[in-house]
Amino acid sequence: MVRLKKFYVTTPIYYVNASPHIGHAYTTIAADVLARWHRLKKQDVFFLTGTDEHGEKIQTAAEAIGKTPKGLADEVSEKFREAWKRLTISNDDFIRTTDARHTKVVAEFIRRLNDNGDIYKGEYVGWYCIPDETFWTQLQLKNGRCPECGREVELVKEEAYFFRLSKYQERLLRLYEENPSFLSPPSRSPEIITRVQEELKDLCVTRRAVRWAVQFPLDGQHYVYVWLDALINYLSALDWPNGSRFIKYWPPDVQLVGKEINWFHSVIWPALLMSVSVEPPRKVFSHGWWTVGGEKMSKSRGNVVDPVEVCGRYSVDAFRYFVLREMAFGDDGDFSEAALRARVNGELVADLGNLLNRAVTLAEKYEGKVQGKDEVTVNLHMEEIKRCMDLLGFHGALAEIWVFIRSVNSYVNERRPWKLRDEELGNVLYNLLESLRIISILVSAFMPETSAEMNRQLGIQSGFLEDCTFKTWQGNVRKGRLLFEKIRTPLQ
Ligand code: MSP
Repeated sequence: MVRLKKFYVTTPIYYVNASPHIGHAYTTIAADVLARWHRLKKQDVFFLTGTDEHGEKIQTAAEAIGKTPKGLADEVSEKFREAWKRLTISNDDFIRTTDARHTKVVAEFIRRLNDNGDIYKGEYVGWYCIPDETFWTQLQLKNGRCPECGREVELVKEEAYFFRLSKYQERLLRLYEENPSFLSPPSRSPEIITRVQEELKDLCVTRRAVRWAVQFPLDGQHYVYVWLDALINYLSALDWPNGSRFIKYWPPDVQLVGKEINWFHSVIWPALLMSVSVEPPRKVFSHGWWTVGGEKMSKSRGNVVDPVEVCGRYSVDAFRYFVLREMAFGDDGDFSEAALRARVNGELVADLGNLLNRAVTLAEKYEGKVQGKDEVTVNLHMEEIKRCMDLLGFHGALAEIWVFIRSVNSYVNERRPWKLRDEELGNVLYNLLESLRIISILVSAFMPETSAEMNRQLGIQSGFLEDCTFKTWQGNVRKGRLLFEKIRTPLQ
């Protein structure tokens, strides 16, 4: 039996103190595209996302609106699930840190850290940023505020348990050296390596005052620090340590994270795994941030963009396409509807939609044989598209796919099939329809609904990456709606 290659991809699990915004949607769409791309390669994919429901941040948010933390978590976690459904996210599981299957794994994980001599009791004196759920030392603060988000920090002085993170300095540096793509993209690795080389302090892993948390299994007076709890989700969803999912899918092939939580995933997470003798992930990819109107999104600024609303005003696929095409994955960028509209009207309406429309209109008119020889694939650079996708260069892959789409449009302009007859017409149609079949496969990971509509109109089944070569045309064309409508209304 041929064994399928497995592919395990994760998103961070999202805090439930606020509804999903375009930042969360961005990571989730990227993970979805990767999952779908690897399914196109016939791999056995497991795609995980979920919600991070414990901690002071959630406790405070719930109190502020007179809800219980669990009540708030249930409500917002459901909003995330609904949003992902709307955005055609194809996750295989959705983990919640309040799931019993998760909390029992957290307890087991901590027992193993302790068995390995990596947990000790001490006193924590320092600062805590509630929005980031992060401990900071006096030296790390910037003007007395959180160096990450600039907000106020609270002084914490309490008895606490620590994880011996410092013990893993050498092993972490070796991991980065031996696996250069573990820290991705390469531009982000120097900052991590330098910080790990400089100093690695032990990590406080319990909070006494924060009771909306998993109870610390070694001492009933203490509660597990939310980040330790949260990171373990990647294991608990696979039923670590003995579950068949764990055996099949571990380690993660790609873990996507925003740059602000790279440290937790690239340093703390592999060290924790080393302690319990579990293989670290193969790649942690930290991507950049979307600003809106040049500013960080925040409730107080009132510039938080709701992805579901954007999808309602345009389309899910227009939004999915835009966020991955507009900026390189890894860079920062500004979200604007004007830019989204330009891409919809140009690339989606004028290039892709127009090409399909031309092809199906011609094919319906012409009743003869669709056959001939390939005249267009010189502009289909499959190896380059695959190389971009291997490096998570979504925008590069899309740009290459568009090179092909535009070249097929130019081919039609040059060959003027409406002036041709018989065999010559059959040949141009063959090139057009086979190209569209291939394009539909290539865009399917990015725009699943668009690809499905293309297949419906072309009268073909969905294919795999290996089908991206010219074959015998076997479709049965039936013209349908335009793939994308031109946006004419002015921006409000
Ligand atoms: N709960 C933690 C993660 C725990 S993972 C074990 C957390 N949650 S979060 O709700 O704040 O979501 C963080 C993730 O959302 C970021 O890593 C990033 O993927 C995404 N983004 C949040 N805001 C963003 C932008 N403005 N732009 C792009 N992505 C951003 O941190």
